[in-house]
Amino acid sequence: MYEDLAEWWPLLSPPAEYEGEAADLLPRLDIVPGAPPATMLELGAGGGSLAFHLKRHFRMTLTDRSPGMSAVSRAVNPECEHVLGDMRSLRLGRQFDVVLIHDAIMYATDPEAVQATLRTAATHCRTGGTVVVLPDFVRETFEPGTDHGGSDAPDGRGLRYLEWSWDPDAADDTYLVEYAFLLRAADGIVSVAHDRHVEGLFARDRWLGWFAEAGIPASSALDSFGREIFLGIRNGSAAGPAV
Ligand SMILES: C[S@@+](CC[C@H](N)C(=O)[O-])C[C@H]1O[C@@H](n2cnc3c(N)ncnc32)[C@H](O)[C@@H]1O
Repeated sequence: MYEDLAEWWPLLSPPAEYEGEAADLLPRLDIVPGAPPATMLELGAGGGSLAFHLKRHFRMTLTDRSPGMSAVSRAVNPECEHVLGDMRSLRLGRQFDVVLIHDAIMYATDPEAVQATLRTAATHCRTGGTVVVLPDFVRETFEPGTDHGGSDAPDGRGLRYLEWSWDPDAADDTYLVEYAFLLRAADGIVSVAHDRHVEGLFARDRWLGWFAEAGIPASSALDSFGREIFLGIRNGSAAGPAV
Protein backbone atom coordinates (compact mmCIF):
# COMPACT_ATOMS: atom_id res chain seq x y z
CA MET A 1 0.00 0.00 0.00
CA TYR A 2 2.75 2.48 0.93
CA GLU A 3 5.01 1.64 -2.01
CA ASP A 4 3.27 0.43 -5.19
CA LEU A 5 -0.11 1.99 -4.30
CA ALA A 6 1.15 5.20 -2.63
CA GLU A 7 -0.14 7.44 -5.43
CA TRP A 8 -3.67 6.18 -4.61
CA TRP A 9 -3.47 7.43 -1.00
CA PRO A 10 -5.48 10.65 -1.65
CA LEU A 11 -8.39 8.47 -2.85
CA LEU A 12 -8.02 6.01 0.04
CA SER A 13 -7.57 8.32 3.01
CA PRO A 14 -7.81 12.02 2.05
CA PRO A 15 -7.34 14.98 4.45
CA ALA A 16 -11.13 15.43 4.81
CA GLU A 17 -11.29 12.13 6.71
CA TYR A 18 -8.87 13.41 9.39
CA GLU A 19 -10.68 16.57 10.44
CA GLY A 20 -12.33 14.93 13.46
CA GLU A 21 -9.10 13.32 14.65
CA ALA A 22 -7.27 16.63 14.45
CA ALA A 23 -10.09 18.37 16.34
CA ASP A 24 -9.82 15.75 19.10
CA LEU A 25 -6.03 15.94 19.27
CA LEU A 26 -5.41 19.70 19.20
CA PRO A 27 -6.93 20.61 22.61
CA ARG A 28 -4.74 17.93 24.24
CA LEU A 29 -1.57 19.69 23.06
CA ASP A 30 -1.73 22.89 25.12
CA ILE A 31 -1.43 25.35 22.27
CA VAL A 32 -0.79 28.78 23.79
CA PRO A 33 -2.96 31.41 22.06
CA GLY A 34 -0.84 34.20 20.61
CA ALA A 35 2.49 32.40 21.21
CA PRO A 36 4.74 31.63 18.22
CA PRO A 37 3.75 28.27 16.68
CA ALA A 38 5.35 25.34 18.45
CA THR A 39 7.43 22.87 16.47
CA MET A 40 6.16 19.36 15.76
CA LEU A 41 7.93 16.30 14.36
CA GLU A 42 5.70 13.56 12.95
CA LEU A 43 7.19 10.08 12.52
CA GLY A 44 5.48 7.99 9.82
CA ALA A 45 3.51 11.00 8.55
CA GLY A 46 2.48 9.11 5.40
CA GLY A 47 0.46 11.15 2.92
CA GLY A 48 0.20 14.05 5.37
CA SER A 49 -3.60 13.89 5.67
CA LEU A 50 -3.60 14.50 9.44
CA ALA A 51 -0.77 17.04 9.18
CA PHE A 52 -2.93 19.01 6.74
CA HIS A 53 -5.14 19.94 9.74
CA LEU A 54 -2.29 20.50 12.23
CA LYS A 55 0.02 22.69 10.15
CA ARG A 56 -1.91 25.87 10.95
CA HIS A 57 -0.94 25.40 14.60
CA PHE A 58 2.60 23.99 14.36
CA ARG A 59 5.76 24.35 12.32
CA MET A 60 5.84 20.76 11.11
CA THR A 61 8.58 18.38 10.02
CA LEU A 62 7.03 15.33 8.34
CA THR A 63 9.03 12.11 8.10
CA ASP A 64 8.28 8.73 6.56
CA ARG A 65 10.33 5.85 5.19
CA SER A 66 8.32 5.62 1.95
CA PRO A 67 9.38 8.02 -0.83
CA GLY A 68 5.98 7.56 -2.54
CA MET A 69 3.99 8.50 0.58
CA SER A 70 6.30 11.43 1.27
CA ALA A 71 5.75 12.67 -2.31
CA VAL A 72 1.98 12.63 -1.71
CA SER A 73 2.47 14.65 1.49
CA ARG A 74 4.76 17.16 -0.24
CA ALA A 75 1.95 17.87 -2.71
CA VAL A 76 -0.64 18.25 0.09
CA ASN A 77 1.63 20.15 2.50
CA PRO A 78 4.21 22.03 0.38
CA GLU A 79 4.90 24.48 3.22
CA CYS A 80 6.09 21.72 5.60
CA GLU A 81 9.59 20.28 5.82
CA HIS A 82 9.78 16.65 4.61
CA VAL A 83 12.51 14.16 5.49
CA LEU A 84 12.78 10.48 4.53
CA GLY A 85 13.66 8.20 7.43
CA ASP A 86 12.76 5.17 9.51
CA MET A 87 11.04 6.00 12.80
CA ARG A 88 13.21 3.43 14.61
CA SER A 89 16.51 5.01 13.65
CA LEU A 90 15.93 8.59 12.39
CA ARG A 91 18.29 11.14 13.96
CA LEU A 92 17.84 14.76 12.84
CA GLY A 93 20.12 16.33 15.44
CA ARG A 94 17.46 18.73 16.73
CA GLN A 95 14.55 18.78 19.13
CA PHE A 96 10.88 19.71 18.86
CA ASP A 97 8.12 20.82 21.23
CA VAL A 98 5.90 17.91 20.20
CA VAL A 99 6.67 14.54 18.60
CA LEU A 100 3.65 12.76 17.09
CA ILE A 101 3.33 9.16 15.98
CA HIS A 102 -0.15 8.53 14.69
CA ASP A 103 -1.28 5.55 12.62
CA ALA A 104 2.28 4.48 11.75
CA ILE A 105 3.11 3.14 15.20
CA MET A 106 1.27 -0.15 14.54
CA TYR A 107 4.04 -1.02 12.09
CA ALA A 108 6.30 -1.51 15.11
CA THR A 109 5.45 -5.19 15.48
CA ASP A 110 7.81 -6.33 18.23
CA PRO A 111 8.89 -4.80 21.56
CA GLU A 112 12.34 -3.86 20.21
CA ALA A 113 10.76 -1.86 17.36
CA VAL A 114 8.44 -0.03 19.78
CA GLN A 115 11.31 0.70 22.16
CA ALA A 116 13.53 1.97 19.32
CA THR A 117 10.71 4.19 18.01
CA LEU A 118 10.06 5.66 21.46
CA ARG A 119 13.80 6.34 21.81
CA THR A 120 13.65 8.24 18.50
CA ALA A 121 10.67 10.22 19.81
CA ALA A 122 12.39 10.99 23.15
CA THR A 123 15.64 11.97 21.46
CA HIS A 124 13.82 14.54 19.29
CA CYS A 125 11.63 15.96 22.07
CA ARG A 126 12.83 18.88 24.19
CA THR A 127 12.80 18.46 27.97
CA GLY A 128 9.24 19.21 29.10
CA GLY A 129 7.91 18.64 25.57
CA THR A 130 5.19 16.15 24.62
CA VAL A 131 5.31 12.82 22.82
CA VAL A 132 1.89 11.72 21.49
CA VAL A 133 1.38 8.16 20.25
CA LEU A 134 -1.91 6.82 18.87
CA PRO A 135 -1.93 3.09 18.12
CA ASP A 136 -5.15 1.91 16.46
CA PHE A 137 -5.51 -0.68 19.24
CA VAL A 138 -3.88 -1.86 22.43
CA ARG A 139 -4.42 -5.48 23.45
CA GLU A 140 -7.30 -4.47 25.76
CA THR A 141 -9.21 -2.53 23.08
CA PHE A 142 -8.70 -4.81 20.05
CA GLU A 143 -11.93 -5.79 18.26
CA PRO A 144 -12.00 -7.67 14.96
CA GLY A 145 -13.96 -5.73 12.37
CA THR A 146 -14.42 -4.45 8.87
CA ASP A 147 -14.47 -1.02 7.29
CA HIS A 148 -14.83 0.21 3.75
CA GLY A 149 -14.51 3.40 1.77
CA GLY A 150 -12.75 5.11 -1.11
CA SER A 151 -13.37 8.00 -3.45
CA ASP A 152 -13.03 9.30 -7.00
CA ALA A 153 -10.48 11.64 -8.61
CA PRO A 154 -11.35 14.40 -11.11
CA ASP A 155 -9.28 12.56 -13.77
CA GLY A 156 -11.66 9.58 -13.77
CA ARG A 157 -9.66 7.32 -11.45
CA GLY A 158 -11.50 5.74 -8.53
CA LEU A 159 -10.70 3.46 -5.60
CA ARG A 160 -12.89 1.41 -3.29
CA TYR A 161 -11.59 -0.77 -0.48
CA LEU A 162 -12.60 -3.29 2.15
CA GLU A 163 -10.49 -3.42 5.32
CA TRP A 164 -10.72 -6.52 7.54
CA SER A 165 -8.92 -6.67 10.91
CA TRP A 166 -8.55 -10.03 12.62
CA ASP A 167 -6.25 -11.73 15.08
CA PRO A 168 -5.29 -15.33 14.28
CA ASP A 169 -3.37 -15.75 17.56
CA ALA A 170 -4.47 -13.82 20.65
CA ALA A 171 -1.34 -15.01 22.48
CA ASP A 172 1.18 -13.18 20.27
CA ASP A 173 2.00 -9.48 19.77
CA THR A 174 0.44 -8.91 16.34
CA TYR A 175 -2.84 -8.88 14.44
CA LEU A 176 -3.59 -8.74 10.73
CA VAL A 177 -5.31 -6.17 8.56
CA GLU A 178 -6.31 -7.43 5.12
CA TYR A 179 -7.09 -4.83 2.47
CA ALA A 180 -8.93 -5.59 -0.77
CA PHE A 181 -8.70 -2.77 -3.31
CA LEU A 182 -10.66 -2.14 -6.51
CA LEU A 183 -8.61 0.35 -8.52
CA ARG A 184 -10.25 2.04 -11.51
CA ALA A 185 -7.80 3.66 -13.93
CA ALA A 186 -8.69 6.86 -15.80
CA ASP A 187 -9.62 4.75 -18.88
CA GLY A 188 -12.20 2.81 -16.82
CA ILE A 189 -10.20 -0.44 -16.52
CA VAL A 190 -10.56 -1.88 -13.00
CA SER A 191 -7.91 -4.01 -11.30
CA VAL A 192 -7.89 -5.77 -7.93
CA ALA A 193 -5.16 -5.83 -5.27
CA HIS A 194 -4.82 -7.54 -1.91
CA ASP A 195 -2.47 -6.21 0.77
CA ARG A 196 -1.83 -7.89 4.15
CA HIS A 197 -0.55 -5.70 7.00
CA VAL A 198 0.98 -7.24 10.12
CA GLU A 199 0.46 -4.76 12.98
CA GLY A 200 1.68 -4.62 16.60
CA LEU A 201 -0.65 -5.32 19.52
CA PHE A 202 0.61 -4.78 23.08
CA ALA A 203 -1.03 -4.43 26.48
CA ARG A 204 -1.40 -0.90 27.87
CA ASP A 205 0.97 -1.60 30.80
CA ARG A 206 3.74 -2.69 28.45
CA TRP A 207 3.35 0.55 26.51
CA LEU A 208 3.49 2.61 29.70
CA GLY A 209 6.62 0.73 30.83
CA TRP A 210 8.34 1.41 27.49
CA PHE A 211 7.47 5.12 27.70
CA ALA A 212 8.94 5.32 31.20
CA GLU A 213 12.11 3.48 30.07
CA ALA A 214 12.55 5.98 27.22
CA GLY A 215 12.39 8.93 29.65
CA ILE A 216 8.91 10.08 28.58
CA PRO A 217 6.61 8.94 31.41
CA ALA A 218 3.12 8.81 29.93
CA SER A 219 -0.55 8.68 30.78
CA SER A 220 -3.13 7.03 28.57
CA ALA A 221 -6.73 7.87 27.74
CA LEU A 222 -9.28 6.95 25.09
CA ASP A 223 -9.92 9.59 22.45
CA SER A 224 -13.42 10.35 21.20
CA PHE A 225 -13.13 7.48 18.68
CA GLY A 226 -12.39 4.96 21.47
CA ARG A 227 -8.74 4.81 20.46
CA GLU A 228 -5.83 4.77 22.88
CA ILE A 229 -3.87 8.00 23.12
CA PHE A 230 -0.58 8.01 25.02
CA LEU A 231 0.74 11.42 26.11
CA GLY A 232 4.30 11.38 27.45
CA ILE A 233 6.24 14.31 28.89
CA ARG A 234 9.97 14.19 28.21
CA ASN A 235 11.91 14.28 31.44
CA GLY A 236 15.53 15.32 31.81
CA SER A 237 16.84 11.77 31.60
CA ALA A 238 15.60 10.48 28.25
CA ALA A 239 17.51 7.42 27.11
CA GLY A 240 20.65 8.27 25.18
CA PRO A 241 22.10 11.61 24.12
CA ALA A 242 19.77 14.46 23.16
CA VAL A 243 20.67 14.30 19.46
C1 LIG B 1 -1.38 4.84 7.70
S1 LIG B 1 -0.01 5.59 6.99
C2 LIG B 1 0.07 7.18 7.78
C3 LIG B 1 -0.97 8.10 7.28
C4 LIG B 1 -0.88 9.50 7.85
N1 LIG B 1 -1.30 9.52 9.24
C5 LIG B 1 -1.66 10.52 7.07
O1 LIG B 1 -2.28 11.38 7.72
O2 LIG B 1 -1.64 10.50 5.82
C6 LIG B 1 1.33 4.75 7.78
C7 LIG B 1 2.69 5.24 7.33
O3 LIG B 1 3.67 4.67 8.18
C8 LIG B 1 4.84 4.55 7.41
N2 LIG B 1 5.78 3.67 8.12
C9 LIG B 1 5.62 2.36 8.43
N3 LIG B 1 6.69 1.90 9.08
C10 LIG B 1 7.55 2.95 9.19
C11 LIG B 1 8.84 3.11 9.76
N4 LIG B 1 9.47 2.08 10.35
N5 LIG B 1 9.43 4.33 9.72
C12 LIG B 1 8.80 5.36 9.09
N6 LIG B 1 7.58 5.27 8.51
C13 LIG B 1 6.96 4.08 8.58
C14 LIG B 1 4.37 4.04 6.08
O4 LIG B 1 5.32 4.26 5.06
C15 LIG B 1 3.08 4.84 5.91
O5 LIG B 1 3.31 6.00 5.15
